[in-house]
Amino acid sequence: MENVLAYIDQHQDRFLDELKEFLKIKSVSADSAFKSEITRCADFVKNHLDSIGLNNVEIIQTSGYPVVYAETDIDPTKKTILLYGHYDVQPPDPLDLWETPPFEPSIRDGQLFARGVSDDKGQVFCHIKAIEAWLRTEGKLPVNIKIIIEGEEEIGSPSLQPFLNQYKEKLSADIALVSDTPMIGLNQPSICFSLRGLLYLELTITSAGTDLHSGQHGGAVPNAILGATQIIHALKDASNKVTIPGFYDDVEELSPALKEEIRSLPYSEKEYLDSIGASHLSGEAGYTAYEQRWFRPTLDCNGIYGGYTGEGAKTVIPSKTTIKLSMRLVSKQNPYDIFEKFKAFLPQITPKGYHVDIHSHSFAFPAQINPEHPAVKAGLTALEKAFGVKAKRQGEGGTIPVVADFKQILGLETVLMGFNLPDDRIHAPNERFSLYNFFKGITASSYFFKEL
Ligand code: BES
Ligand code: MN
Ligand code: MN
Repeated sequence: MENVLAYIDQHQDRFLDELKEFLKIKSVSADSAFKSEITRCADFVKNHLDSIGLNNVEIIQTSGYPVVYAETDIDPTKKTILLYGHYDVQPPDPLDLWETPPFEPSIRDGQLFARGVSDDKGQVFCHIKAIEAWLRTEGKLPVNIKIIIEGEEEIGSPSLQPFLNQYKEKLSADIALVSDTPMIGLNQPSICFSLRGLLYLELTITSAGTDLHSGQHGGAVPNAILGATQIIHALKDASNKVTIPGFYDDVEELSPALKEEIRSLPYSEKEYLDSIGASHLSGEAGYTAYEQRWFRPTLDCNGIYGGYTGEGAKTVIPSKTTIKLSMRLVSKQNPYDIFEKFKAFLPQITPKGYHVDIHSHSFAFPAQINPEHPAVKAGLTALEKAFGVKAKRQGEGGTIPVVADFKQILGLETVLMGFNLPDDRIHAPNERFSLYNFFKGITASSYFFKEL
């Protein structure tokens, strides 16, 4: 282990340079204009995994963007880790809010700024460099590792279920390992044992066959934007509960022990508000912010467009409006079942004179991990050794669709060992990853292979 740690120390500059090359590739999965960059990124990952001495490195095609696969020597007497990450990134917009361009990685105050640096390229790289450090110093690892790095996570991993089913044998392992979540705070490492699921919908509301002059017709006719906002408004009540009948049927209450563990985590409402630049919280009554974000379901409107949005004033009544709606799901909630409940409720909250078309974007199940699993314990120990601070357990509100599938299809628990920080601005302008956490992440990963 000493040699491994020394190797990490000696090669810091090169590791950073290589990560920067990875970050320069504009692997945006949501926008087909970036398709060739996705291909280039898969090639980069493949070549990199080859270069550090992994075996059977290949680009595996799917019905969507490809998965890059690699493995170490497989020794049947050792435990096997299935390491997962994603090489795709979110669109960089709005571009004008970036201090330096999103695909020109730059370092300021000990932070590396670039789209995807925290979500998820930098975190993926922590493990790749840990594997390299083991291979280059000891010649082999204390565990077997199979790696899958995919290119469609940010659009809901639509090709991954068939992929896991098709390659079940090839991917057989003892535990999955994913670094795609944040730690609880600066110098407070943690393992995450719960993720929310997702149902993402798009509704198009139509109120007339054409836009209308708002003076000539206003007061007599329906307005698509008003209809849309009435629908949004009707989906939550005054205590911020979702009003869809049956929405909470499969939500289990938090156990007193879990509530207690969450309450013992470091948290300051003021710091949270400051970190997001807001003045008040607005959550479901009766729950703390961590409970709301990690263990309670919710509904949000993520976008709305329609009517006149150009400069100046245009007196018009829009005939069409689109809203993007998403629900974060917990415990036993099933996104397909919630979709049926939503469709049954929609006519009841649609005012007369409006027509609504529904399009569904993503369905992802929530995931729960047994926090007492020995691999989770090994993860906590590895983090403690790397950071010198006892690691905590936490939940998270985001979604990593594959985690529920790992359990359902491959029968695997997942160790969610996140290295970024809650204010690293993932999906937002000026996304960043602290260099300190990057190198600690490499160290923690190296320890994990040994602890397991
Ligand atoms: N890395 C995130 C998931 C995440 C974010 C977990 C914050 C915990 C805290 C992942 O890349 C992501 O953004 N997932 C999407 C999934 C969706 C597109 C199906 C999400 O959560 O919105
Ligand atoms: Mn991610
Ligand atoms: Mn993401």
